[in-house]
Amino acid sequence: MDDIKCLFPVLNQKVHDKTLVYLDNAASTQKPMEVIQAVDNYYYTINSNVHRGNHLLSQLATTAYEEARKSVQAFISAAHHYEIIFTRGTTEAINLVANSFCRSFVRQGDEIIVSHMEHHSNIVPWQLAAEQCGATIKVIPVLNDGTLDIDAYNHLFSEKTKIVSITHVSNVLGTINPVKQMTQTAHSHGVPVLVDGAQGIKSCEVNVQDSDCDFYCFSGHKIYAPMGIGVLYGKEKYLEQMLPYQGGGEMIHKVSFEKTTFNELPFKFEAGTPNVGGAIGLKSAIEFMQRIGVSNMIEHDNNLLRYALQKMQNIDGLRLIGEASNRAAVISFLLGKSHPADAGTLLDMMGIAVRTGHHCAEPLMNLFNIPGTIRASFAIYNTYEDIDILINALNKTNQLLQA
Ligand SMILES: Cc1ncc(COP(=O)(O)O)c(C=O)c1O
Repeated sequence: MDDIKCLFPVLNQKVHDKTLVYLDNAASTQKPMEVIQAVDNYYYTINSNVHRGNHLLSQLATTAYEEARKSVQAFISAAHHYEIIFTRGTTEAINLVANSFCRSFVRQGDEIIVSHMEHHSNIVPWQLAAEQCGATIKVIPVLNDGTLDIDAYNHLFSEKTKIVSITHVSNVLGTINPVKQMTQTAHSHGVPVLVDGAQGIKSCEVNVQDSDCDFYCFSGHKIYAPMGIGVLYGKEKYLEQMLPYQGGGEMIHKVSFEKTTFNELPFKFEAGTPNVGGAIGLKSAIEFMQRIGVSNMIEHDNNLLRYALQKMQNIDGLRLIGEASNRAAVISFLLGKSHPADAGTLLDMMGIAVRTGHHCAEPLMNLFNIPGTIRASFAIYNTYEDIDILINALNKTNQLLQA
């Protein structure tokens, strides 16, 4: 693993004079040199706008951009490359669907199902869209162990339900939700499902045809790719019928003041100049993951998870938030009665980067009646030694906070 760490330039530094231990991977992962170089190389050699010019650089940039789309298609096993829409990230992808799907299919009195463990990105876009079309939001409850109440979910459907939007993996609890089973249930009511894959894309082997979800959204920056590039996968049958999200260049077929017609998929949903360098960086990150093997990466993260959970049992007053048996390498916890922010500051002084706060999941924090958590999350470059350093630091933090 030390070899892998060397591939990530950011990790090779000290913070506050201590060796950096980066455990904030659920927020964003670091980028390997080859991804940074792929983006650099694009700007050094072929930087040009896509789909618009017949000059050589534009053609090369277009080819690289469309190859990136095909590599995402293969990565998540989508049936068609034109079902892959490039976005800025998960947030934009969900906003796109909430906006376009609701304008196309949701009417006054209809219902949208989300869960109590959603990130704000999978709550607020639906609230905004629901307000516009007069729909209401129904919420799947979360049980004490941090799993979804599937029984309650099964009973939430009515003839007014128009879409289900759920996270694949909770960014707070680490819970891996049974999205395939939940999709089957929704489909038995004729209802499509959006899966927020911001965390799932790194923690699970994603196959959108197997899970049969109708939309899957993720961000490149959580899988070793640059920020500012993300993906919306959508089934052709929905994307074809949905109205465009944004208007502008590239998403049109013909424009006149009398009538404008729209471009074919995926361009109908990609208005304006896209993030070509970001897409190329995403392709490079996917190749990096495929070379190591996604299942090997997941196994690595899971080994660290088990090791850390076992060590944490011996820390005085440590309370885990989220204890699902099927979970990803994200651990949320509290130390005694101390505020998570205080622990976060002390850990930072010891060179350890963790996330503290509500993690953009305020409804979930309210449910557990806590102000926030300390969250450690792992990635391919983390080691058992990193966990040992964390555990020592947590013991020290405990002493300092209780002194
Ligand atoms: C579960 C979940 N959904 C959505 C998001 C939003 O992702 P982004 O900020 O990359 O759009 C995050 C980010 O942490 C997340 O963890």
